[in-house]
Amino acid sequence: MRTQVGIIGAGPAGLLLSRMLAVQGIESVVLENRSRDYVEARIRAGILEQHTVDTLRDVGMGARLDREGLEHDGIYLQYPGTRHKLDFPELCGRNVWIYGQSEVVKDLIAAQLDDGPPLLFEVTDVQPRDVDTDSPSIAFTDADGVAQVLECDVVAGTDGFHGVSRPIVTAATDGKLWERTYPFAWLGILADVAPSTDDLIYAWHPDGFAMHSMRSPSVSRLYIQVDPTEKIEDWSDDRIWEALATRMALPGWELQTGPVTEKSILPMRSFVSSPMRHGRLFLAGDAAHIVPPTGAKGLNLAVADVTLLAAALVRLLAEKETDLVDAYSDKALARVWRCTHFSWWMTSMLHTHGDEFDAQLQLSQLQRVCTSEAAARELAEMYTGLPVAL
Ligand code: FAD
Ligand code: DHB
Repeated sequence: MRTQVGIIGAGPAGLLLSRMLAVQGIESVVLENRSRDYVEARIRAGILEQHTVDTLRDVGMGARLDREGLEHDGIYLQYPGTRHKLDFPELCGRNVWIYGQSEVVKDLIAAQLDDGPPLLFEVTDVQPRDVDTDSPSIAFTDADGVAQVLECDVVAGTDGFHGVSRPIVTAATDGKLWERTYPFAWLGILADVAPSTDDLIYAWHPDGFAMHSMRSPSVSRLYIQVDPTEKIEDWSDDRIWEALATRMALPGWELQTGPVTEKSILPMRSFVSSPMRHGRLFLAGDAAHIVPPTGAKGLNLAVADVTLLAAALVRLLAEKETDLVDAYSDKALARVWRCTHFSWWMTSMLHTHGDEFDAQLQLSQLQRVCTSEAAARELAEMYTGLPVAL
């Protein structure tokens, strides 16, 4: 089997990269080790930045997003006694959209299987080879158990945090890894109940952070800060709703409850791996970096990476110029570190940790963002997403 770009992983990064390359006449094959059902059912991120929405529209993936996505013009920041709306268009002229990552992935898979490049599910033993030469390949076993080799010009490692690509880059380049684990986790639920709010609520509370998000006019997505050692079995639906109602309480406002359809506990970490390239192997998305979810940057960063990578690969493969692939890692990492800082800052400001001194610093910072236009604008610019400078 032969193609121009062998892509490992059918998450948002790999699928979108394949789509962006196809639009520009570059061939690819996507190899995914899970089943289609599994990949489509994974409940993850929910907020799309302006740049992500523009990118999806540009590659013909905007139809259902425009029909079903919910455009939001701000968020509420809350601390006891105050719920303050940050108006994004007023502050920075941009918006965000609520459209689940699972819906983005479903749209990309449907288009790929309809008339896009090959996408192979349930492959095993995926192994990039000879990535330090101009003719790398990917060895794998297909869903029927047959050993295969995909010959290509370039390998894209979009195989997430636990994939096979990053260790190869790190070992070959003596690469650097930076990591921060946080002393808390998020317990997230999906519930069949209309959202009790028009915009997302990020709430600081002495018991811990709480957040109200949504997926549609009839489905709510909510999160609470818990200890990372907590077991989901110890959190009955009633206990979760009670914690949410306490932490987001505001006179005159009531949290509506409904049947919980999914619940899980997510660990939180920051992680950056550098460089994002070795030879003809390029990393993008969670394969190279992880952010804690506060601020909703993970999926959007993956989209920004592949926007840069697609442009660089088109230039390499169609024009035989290496300038953009040579600049890829540094350019992508500059944006990664900015978003890593933002996610760390939002996480540090909103989650209870430390002592009463830390709590007073957090409240002081929240008050600053809610009263200073300059401070609010910085949050709005980062939340709605920096443009991707190609
Ligand atoms: P992934 O989505 O991880 O895709 C990688 C793909 O590669 C997967 O399909 C995987 O099965 C496949 N793969 C792995 N190894 C191999 C292999 N050896 N061979 C072939 N295929 C392989 N971000 C937010 O902004 N907000 C959120 O609320 C949020 N919630 C999250 C909740 C969870 C539980 C997790 C794990 C992440 C969450 N994120 C969130 C982060 C966001 O979902 C990710 O940043 C995003 O999925 C990154 O996309 P990706 O394509 O780089 O990686
Ligand atoms: C969602 C997740 C986030 O991490 C966030 O900051 C906002 C919303 C969500 O799942 O809807």
